[in-house]
Amino acid sequence: MFDSDLYREVRKPLLDAQTLPSHCYTSDEFFRREKQRIFSDTWHFVGREDELPESGCVLVVETMVGSALVCRDENGGIRGFINACRHRGTKLKEQSGRCRQLVCPYHAWSYGLDGRLRTAPGMGEVNNFDPKDFPLQSLKLESVGGFIFISFDANAAALGRWLGDFPDVMQSHHLSDLRCVKRFSFSINANWKFLIENSLEAYHTGTVHQSTLGAQDSESVDTQGQWDALYVLSDETKSIATLPGQTQGLPFIQGLNEKAKRGTWFTAIYPCTQIVFSQDCVWWLDFKPVNVSQTTLTIGACFPSSTVAMTDFDRQVQPYYDRWTRATAEDNAIAEAQQRGHQLALETAGRYAATEHCVHQLNNWVLDQVLDH
Ligand code: FES
Ligand SMILES: [Fe+2]
Repeated sequence: MFDSDLYREVRKPLLDAQTLPSHCYTSDEFFRREKQRIFSDTWHFVGREDELPESGCVLVVETMVGSALVCRDENGGIRGFINACRHRGTKLKEQSGRCRQLVCPYHAWSYGLDGRLRTAPGMGEVNNFDPKDFPLQSLKLESVGGFIFISFDANAAALGRWLGDFPDVMQSHHLSDLRCVKRFSFSINANWKFLIENSLEAYHTGTVHQSTLGAQDSESVDTQGQWDALYVLSDETKSIATLPGQTQGLPFIQGLNEKAKRGTWFTAIYPCTQIVFSQDCVWWLDFKPVNVSQTTLTIGACFPSSTVAMTDFDRQVQPYYDRWTRATAEDNAIAEAQQRGHQLALETAGRYAATEHCVHQLNNWVLDQVLDH
């Protein structure tokens, strides 16, 4: 399954290439290899710094590698920890929220937001037990423009190296000024690659989104680093963050460069985080693989702080929420149909359209990681 000869047709140039065979989307063995070779040492998207506005705010992040806690500590710093107690390993928190300390639900060991073990009831008689030796296990955590990522690999390359020129291309959206105002969650019965692939081509928009978004035109984007992007053109008076036929609602972001004024970037930070940059807002789709045929999706809706402060923001934002929920339901349903199709097929390999260059690129990136060379 990991012999590179099996994938020679995928390796060809786009217009000669075949798509990945079905087992890449249906085999537990292939999925286990992705876990080892991609997800164990990559950066996992967490959310926005502004979602942790004050000390005591905690995000629980479930990844296929493990569960993590991301906390705003008492000094205003943001820290990442493995979500497990140092006594006998119980998961500390199930839900994001606020707290003054992290208390284990089993025997009530309590930890500060800096990870230090504060109290360990009933441990007084234990020989050579010093609470200082049992802090929560730290994870590598870095942010770019307010977007937080963690890695379970202490030796992971710096986030800046992973992202390459991503922050430069998007800088006119003033990333640090964005505020995440809402999250939407979905559970999808499809392999993670079907979902991120779908988010990287506009070929399907005229059919899957016929009654919502309609057909879209896209261009490729040159990128440096572990990311790719599709640029979708729109006119200079209305973004595509609301459905066609609706008037432009919320104001455009001030100071956008010329390219940013005329369209929307659908990015993919490898392996499976999409951040979309439109003229009036930014939204993210964070795909987290659960197993070979199940994925969770979280969407985060972000607007500039000045937009969020508008008195009628709550009313004006509704068409955006409507667009995200409706279009996402359409994308999820088609990915589930694709999963069912591959589950039935013996081994299929199709062809890529010229507009599916990002899909071809992502598939080859996956092969670069998982194959034995
Ligand atoms: S496992 Fe957490 S206090 Fe015992
Ligand atoms: Fe779509």
